[in-house]
Amino acid sequence: MRQFDGKTAVVTGAASGIGFALAERFAKAGMRVVLADIEKDALDRAVRSLEERQYRVTGITVDTMVKDSVHALADRAMAEFGNIHVLCNNAGVASGGDGGKAVWEIGDADWQWVMGVNFWGVLYGLQAFLPHMLAHGESGHVVNTASLAGLMPGGGPYSVSKHGVLALSEGLHRDLKARSAAIGASVLCPGLVSTRIYDAARNRPASLAGSTRNEAGTQQMKAMLQSGKQPAEVAEIVFDAIGNDRFYVLPHPAWDDFVRARVEHVLARGNPFTVDPQEMARRRAAGEQF
Ligand SMILES: NC(=O)c1ccc[n+]([C@@H]2O[C@H](COP(=O)([O-])OP(=O)(O)OC[C@H]3O[C@@H](n4cnc5c(N)ncnc54)[C@H](O)[C@@H]3O)[C@@H](O)[C@H]2O)c1
Repeated sequence: MRQFDGKTAVVTGAASGIGFALAERFAKAGMRVVLADIEKDALDRAVRSLEERQYRVTGITVDTMVKDSVHALADRAMAEFGNIHVLCNNAGVASGGDGGKAVWEIGDADWQWVMGVNFWGVLYGLQAFLPHMLAHGESGHVVNTASLAGLMPGGGPYSVSKHGVLALSEGLHRDLKARSAAIGASVLCPGLVSTRIYDAARNRPASLAGSTRNEAGTQQMKAMLQSGKQPAEVAEIVFDAIGNDRFYVLPHPAWDDFVRARVEHVLARGNPFTVDPQEMARRRAAGEQF
């Protein structure tokens, strides 16, 4: 997709972090943007800050865990702006560590919340928007936000959800190509980005309370996130990937060696690769951005 001006983008999780930066980047390119999020106050503030710059944006509240809510988002977005050209299934949450629990001990509430937003939310987005985006026939693009966690050896709910998004996105790409669609697809796999992802519990539904959240681990991750890339840098890389129809979007090259090592472990038919924290700490101290 090369022409952005005058087209319309829908971004979920757009009240904060990477989603807001994507919305801002699209607006700067002359697009109309639907910012969708579960957090109403933050969404209103995000929309206002873009409207103040005379961008054509609107805010719609959505809970991406809920299929009907995502379909209602699609209906409202089309009613307001007509054809949708760019869809970013970006909303995501992290339960904040496994509290030292094994995968079989982590509570169902953590699995359901994290898989609900991170995996099912992306699938519902495809189900709600793709038929419309294919039917109108104009060029467009879908970006699903996974994570480098989707390329590293598996683990708890966050990792499993992001492996799922990566696999789903590869399926999306295959199926769009098979239909010679005018819609491109990308999967975004960032490393650390300075956002509020480790405050995700602010939007956790009461019905799925009972986290195995590990406070010490969460605080450590929050501190690490602050040293991550800025959301605007990531948005710029995504924007470029859409314009050049690139599927895999990996904004943190520091991880490349670890991704390669993971695949080598698979091909060696041995045991899963593990990241050496000391090597990572050494490289971070030398200025590499993870
Ligand atoms: N920050 C990182 O280091 C990092 C790394 C890799 C991947 N990611 C992914 O990037 C995406 C964006 O996260 P972020 O880092 O910008 O975090 P963030 O917390 O700043 O933004 C996430 C947004 O999603 C919204 N949201 C949460 N649950 C929702 C729901 N049920 N329905 C609709 N919106 C909901 C939140 O209100 C928030 O505005 C996520 O998918 C996350 O997993 C982040």
